[in-house]
Amino acid sequence: MGMHLKPLSDSFGVEILDFDANNITDETRGAIKLLFDNHQLVLIRNSGVNEEQHLELVKAVGPISTTDEIMKDGRQFTYISNVHSDGRVPNGELFYHSDHMFLDTPLKGISLYSIEAPEHGGETRFLNAARAFRDMPESLKKRIEGLSARHVYDYNANRGDARPDPSKLSDKVDTSVYPVVWVHPESGTPLLYISKLFTTEVIGLSREESDKLLDDLFAYLDSIPDEYAHKWRPGDLIIWDNLHLQHARADFPETERRALRRVPIALKVA
Ligand SMILES: [Fe+2]
Repeated sequence: MGMHLKPLSDSFGVEILDFDANNITDETRGAIKLLFDNHQLVLIRNSGVNEEQHLELVKAVGPISTTDEIMKDGRQFTYISNVHSDGRVPNGELFYHSDHMFLDTPLKGISLYSIEAPEHGGETRFLNAARAFRDMPESLKKRIEGLSARHVYDYNANRGDARPDPSKLSDKVDTSVYPVVWVHPESGTPLLYISKLFTTEVIGLSREESDKLLDDLFAYLDSIPDEYAHKWRPGDLIIWDNLHLQHARADFPETERRALRRVPIALKVA
């Protein structure tokens, strides 16, 4: 097919430069799956795809996940939006995270398609969790060896720009425990699997020790510059590996309109 590609960073991400929404073939779908597997993030700017074509491209990577409560009725997408009445996480900053890391089966991937984009801010930032582990100072690597951490989503209290307070959790939470260095269930790659947005404690340590270790890990993650941050324009489409990469959102003025169609991709359960 001879797709023209442009790398987005040193360690992940590729942009397809000559995508044609009027000519989506088996070859296109195969290429997108291969690019996703090899680069963990695929970007198509000004893609020109309609809703049906968006879903079709996502399904080339994997089946659509229906674990979101809002999708139990058969919906195949949600809106991340301050424009739609049923839009999720409408405004504000979001710390780095991996979607659904507080559930027993997290998401393999996520796709976002931009419907409306703010003039200022609202970028989606990406962090390579595999590289973060690989490049971590040996002393820090030693401290997390064999440890697991708890991740929580508190439906009454979670904020995008504050760490969850384990002493103030409500009774409406989802929670799960994963190794701090989790192996990607499909690729076998070790990932640093903690997030400022969801991680509350390291299992088996005192609260003080756990807080200190998490503080040090987040300070390390904060010291890594963004390898890629996407400034959205309407029509842009991204599909990324939700485990290999973590994502965050830069703040933006609430007076600006921002709407994205989000399609979650299910992880194969062995
Ligand atoms: Fe997210």
